[in-house]
Amino acid sequence: MTRKNQLPGDAHWWRNAVVYQIYPRSFADANGDGIGDLNGIISRVDYLAALGIDAVWMSPFYPSALADGGYDVDDYMDVDPRIGTLEQFDTLVEKLHENGIRVFVDVVPNHSSDRHAWFQEALAAPKGSAARDRYIFRDGRGENGELPPSDLASHFGPEGWTRTADGQWYMHLFTKEQPDFNWDNPEVNQYFLDTLRFWSDRGVDGFRIDVAHALKKKLDRLPDRHSFALSVMKDDGSDPLFDRDEVHDVYRQWRAVFNEYDPPRVAVAEAWVHPNRRPPYASEDGLGQAFNFDLLASGWEVTQFKHVIADNLHSSAESGSSSTWVLSNHDVIRHATRLVIPGYGTSEDGFDIENQWYQNHRFDHGLDLDLGLRRAKAATLLMFALPGSSYIYQGEELGLHDVLDIPADQMQDPQWHRGEGKFKSRDGCRVPLPWEPTGSSFGFGPGGAHLPQPDWYAGVAVSVQEEDASSTLSLYRSALALRRKLYESDELEWVDLAPGLLAFRRSPKWISITNFTDEPIAITGEVLISSDEVVDGMLPGNSTAWLRSF
Ligand code: NOJ
Ligand code: CA
Repeated sequence: MTRKNQLPGDAHWWRNAVVYQIYPRSFADANGDGIGDLNGIISRVDYLAALGIDAVWMSPFYPSALADGGYDVDDYMDVDPRIGTLEQFDTLVEKLHENGIRVFVDVVPNHSSDRHAWFQEALAAPKGSAARDRYIFRDGRGENGELPPSDLASHFGPEGWTRTADGQWYMHLFTKEQPDFNWDNPEVNQYFLDTLRFWSDRGVDGFRIDVAHALKKKLDRLPDRHSFALSVMKDDGSDPLFDRDEVHDVYRQWRAVFNEYDPPRVAVAEAWVHPNRRPPYASEDGLGQAFNFDLLASGWEVTQFKHVIADNLHSSAESGSSSTWVLSNHDVIRHATRLVIPGYGTSEDGFDIENQWYQNHRFDHGLDLDLGLRRAKAATLLMFALPGSSYIYQGEELGLHDVLDIPADQMQDPQWHRGEGKFKSRDGCRVPLPWEPTGSSFGFGPGGAHLPQPDWYAGVAVSVQEEDASSTLSLYRSALALRRKLYESDELEWVDLAPGLLAFRRSPKWISITNFTDEPIAITGEVLISSDEVVDGMLPGNSTAWLRSF
């Protein structure tokens, strides 16, 4: 079969790729309606090429009512008309490939949107029909079925069941606009195989799989559940909702589809599972790679970082895959802000401290944001020195802070609106990017921006940082160029230095040292790059340096 826009290359290109996540609605807006679009991304391909990344991952750009930022998909094989067209998508892939940049798209298989043709058909169809069997419909409890089928909450708030006009209920692990598919239905299974082929045929190189651990469910007894914390999830495959062993049957079929292509298509699983359960998602006959979010959940603390790195290198050795590293994405407070949030990284389940802090302190945060940025740059430089692939999120290369002061009535995130005051809003990391210091939307586009942009954007815009050799953007560009030159193998050897320093050797010539303390510490060796200036052999506190040898 002829493939459009094929980028040839070896089958292992992904193993140590640096992948840049684009949140399409907030990257660049070509037509001035305030919403980022494909033409906007096309106009910035040179920027992506200059950054030195290997691939982009695009969060959903499919038709959607945006009940959950696009993770509520109306049609898996089309582009939202507000974002562009399939032809523009082809042009974008072609332009990225011309620049040697691969493309991942997001696949959202656990749930569709309630506007999906299948869900609309299910609502119109009678109880027990084939149309309803593609989703999870059940009768309610109580005399007249007026009580939900089980006591199930959803991730973003109270109810995990919603009642339909004829009295039946459907399950949704996220918002009520995101009905869960029934993955025991063969049509659902086939639909996603078709979706993977549809995008692969258009030249897409890889897929990011949303909530990859949730597809298969065991619903003979309907689960009651109020918490989705990892500590509540079973770690042996027996949980009724998550991480069941059967899910890997699905991914084995997906792998067969990926292998129809040359080079084989690749995938990365978003699987919030116990660390001992991660390897199968990343295995060669499964999706091939799985996100590890442990760095993203770590506080700025040397032993935590060291354990996370050691554990994940061990786990990737077990699956035969490479490690993945993530410090920011579209779901968390940007790391330049997060790394100074008091207590961050000390909770078992990662995010409750951040959520509480956000609720109570976002308007009077009192954070030392300069320190946050120094730590963020140090953490990033450390991450780029690690074996495996790094996933970075749009705007982190500008050192952006989270936008903490978005007025509640301008928030879009359902987690905020449905969360009954328990969760942070994810809008603060989704604010349209600043490309210029002035203009109606700081160069995001000729019009406005769909979320309010802060005044401080003027100082951190792309065009400002491009002129400044000491900017965060310049650091990212230089570090990525250097990484390409220095990366020889996946070996990592720990080097013991002073307490508070985390150091490892990546090749005879390449050593990375991070100073987690607040005081400068003496180091020896030729500095190749550093996140903060090394003066007289002293590595400043909260910084990382790469050395040639010492
Ligand atoms: C994970 C995505 O990253 C998040 O943004 C989304 O809300 C949920 N999955 C539901 O699709
Ligand atoms: Ca637009």
